[in-house]
Amino acid sequence: MKIILTKNYEQLSQVAAQIIISQVSEKNDSVLGLATGSTPIGTYKEIIKLYNDKQVDFSNVKSVNLDEYYGLEKGHEQSYFTFMNENLFKFININETYLPDGTNPNSFEECENYEKTIKNLGGIDLQLLGIGHNGHIGFNEPDTIFSTKTHCVRLKPSTIEANARFFETIDDVPKTAYTMGIGTIMSAKKILLLVSGEDKSDILYKTVTGQVRPQTPSSILHFHQNVIIVADELALKKILDICPEIIDKNI
Ligand code: PGA
Repeated sequence: MKIILTKNYEQLSQVAAQIIISQVSEKNDSVLGLATGSTPIGTYKEIIKLYNDKQVDFSNVKSVNLDEYYGLEKGHEQSYFTFMNENLFKFININETYLPDGTNPNSFEECENYEKTIKNLGGIDLQLLGIGHNGHIGFNEPDTIFSTKTHCVRLKPSTIEANARFFETIDDVPKTAYTMGIGTIMSAKKILLLVSGEDKSDILYKTVTGQVRPQTPSSILHFHQNVIIVADELALKKILDICPEIIDKNI
């Protein structure tokens, strides 16, 4: 696990985009695991800029997304399918993209299918992650069993509240979602975790310095061999106060 400190969100987005572009330059048919949420939006904007500058070609790249709300049509304005189209896919030349199908009511079948899709693609080369205030990665909420694969999850009230900002009322936020499991995420060859803002400072400190335990799902990343955390100064506030020496080192 290596932490890279950036001055602000803008720089975080530039550094993260460069890491993703390097991955694609090294392996032009990379399988990218992508994420939604507010944190990666800047990274996607930077990727689009680099694509327009002809610095990267996505024609052989495939992507699989972490999660999708259960019950939302692809065309719903808050579906993650729409989010990915509006923030990235429609601006670049990627041809093969996958998200769980939120409209499949048969969750057993959907989860099996999604795991098969990832396997048939040859596994994920680089998985992009954000982190929730409670340490969730994807929609893997606290107390999820670490070995889980793609599954259907009941969202915690705190996650529903955090996502209510995107819906008209909190009652409109879906209460369940399909998500890659922690086992799926941990099978990725590389993981890139992005953390921005002072409100994430506590959970980032806990993730990096605390015990590995299901109550903090993100803590499992300690057991992965190839994790890069790109975080801005605000998100690193507590680490900078207490243990700045761990920044830029392999820990
Ligand atoms: P955010 O969400 O990027 O919108 O903060 C991250 C997450 O909850 O995983």
